[in-house]
Amino acid sequence: MDSILIHGGTPLAGRIPIAGAKNACLALMPATLLSDEPLTLTNCPRLSDIRTMTQLLQSLGAEVSQLQGGQVLVLSSHDLAGVRADYDIVRKMRASILVLGPLVARRGRAEVSLPGGCAIGARPVDLHLRALEALGAAMDLRDGYVHASAPSGLRGAVVEFPFVSVGATENLLLAAVLARGTTVIRNAAREPEVVDLARCLRRMGARIAGEGTGVIEIEGVDRLAGATHPVVVDRIELGTYMLAPAIAGGEVECLGGRLDLVAAFADTLARTGMEVRATADGVAVRHGGARPRAVDVVTAPFPGFPTDLQAQMMALLCIAEGESVLEERIFENRFMHAPELLRMGARIEVHGGTARVHGVERLRGAPVMATDLRASVSLILAGLAAAGETVVSRVYHLDRGYERLEAKLSAVGARIERVQGT
Ligand code: UD1
Repeated sequence: MDSILIHGGTPLAGRIPIAGAKNACLALMPATLLSDEPLTLTNCPRLSDIRTMTQLLQSLGAEVSQLQGGQVLVLSSHDLAGVRADYDIVRKMRASILVLGPLVARRGRAEVSLPGGCAIGARPVDLHLRALEALGAAMDLRDGYVHASAPSGLRGAVVEFPFVSVGATENLLLAAVLARGTTVIRNAAREPEVVDLARCLRRMGARIAGEGTGVIEIEGVDRLAGATHPVVVDRIELGTYMLAPAIAGGEVECLGGRLDLVAAFADTLARTGMEVRATADGVAVRHGGARPRAVDVVTAPFPGFPTDLQAQMMALLCIAEGESVLEERIFENRFMHAPELLRMGARIEVHGGTARVHGVERLRGAPVMATDLRASVSLILAGLAAAGETVVSRVYHLDRGYERLEAKLSAVGARIERVQGT
């Protein structure tokens, strides 16, 4: 297994291009199942999660061609054969559940394996299932699979989610566009990836209003056409690289970055003392020279502070002056990076969903490993600040969500390399 080796302590300077959003792309790709005309997605990130979704769609009979080295995906579902999403693929990636809505909407039935346990808490899919039931799908859970059927089609309904779920909002949107009549989603997720999905579906001929607010209204149509859609920029990759100069020193410009997508995070970063500004080509962050100041962080659905940047922010707060409190409100058990950061000399106490970080002057390099994507990258960031050598193992997590991470960071002066495993 590969690992990543970092020699910390080098300030950074330069520009990092930000890719299209993994989480947007994973919701956009299943939209192909709704039409027999081709869907072309541009600005796609080249990541293992995207390859997993490609395999899943191919297993259902969709054709997926890659152009420009995978940055453009042309998806076509004119000849859909399958309705079954197998455990072997679903277990690799929870987002596989997003084929459920479009399959039931277009084919009238679907069999999708339930995603297994996940490293960041229980993460059930009950909201997805209840939402599709509200549209008239019959659900049966057997042998670890959801068997969904709606032989005479789905019909619009009012669905109010008890709490915000990005995936359940997307699954419902992907089904309601072909349902008869009007669907209203209340307490809908407002994340930019949901907005991007709504925009793409509208290009395909769907009738949707209200995306980006808590209430989305969808008027079902009989059929959807093909379309070409650029994937929105990845706000989590953006936030991760905005933290790099804050941790290592120096200045980095993130090309293609948009401050409106990371406003709560950017505000928090500015409160630590970093200079954050929009540029003509993206977003720049400059370390002012003084040690970062402690800040408190509470994760929340968009437009709040994203849970997917909590681990990376913690890496910065480990070297801040003073005590920071981080409250994780979206997922249980999402502080698995904390024990690894402790190995690098951080001072952190975790009690349930709250972590108290007492900033130290300096972290020390150490061999570490992480069990999820964002936790892994937080250890890379910590390594940029640490004295000596940090070795991060199990980097396959990183490859799920960060395209050419070591190349992007070494291009701005970080001493980082991938070591091929045996
Ligand atoms: C998506 C993102 C993930 C991000 C998360 C929150 C993708 C592929 N992944 O995940 O990176 O961390 O949003 O911003 O886009 N829940 C239920 N029942 C359900 C669905 C969710 O109880 O049926 C709970 C979850 O366990 C969690 C909360 O709802 O506690 C929010 O999860 P949700 O917004 O659904 O996250 P995902 O869509 O899985």
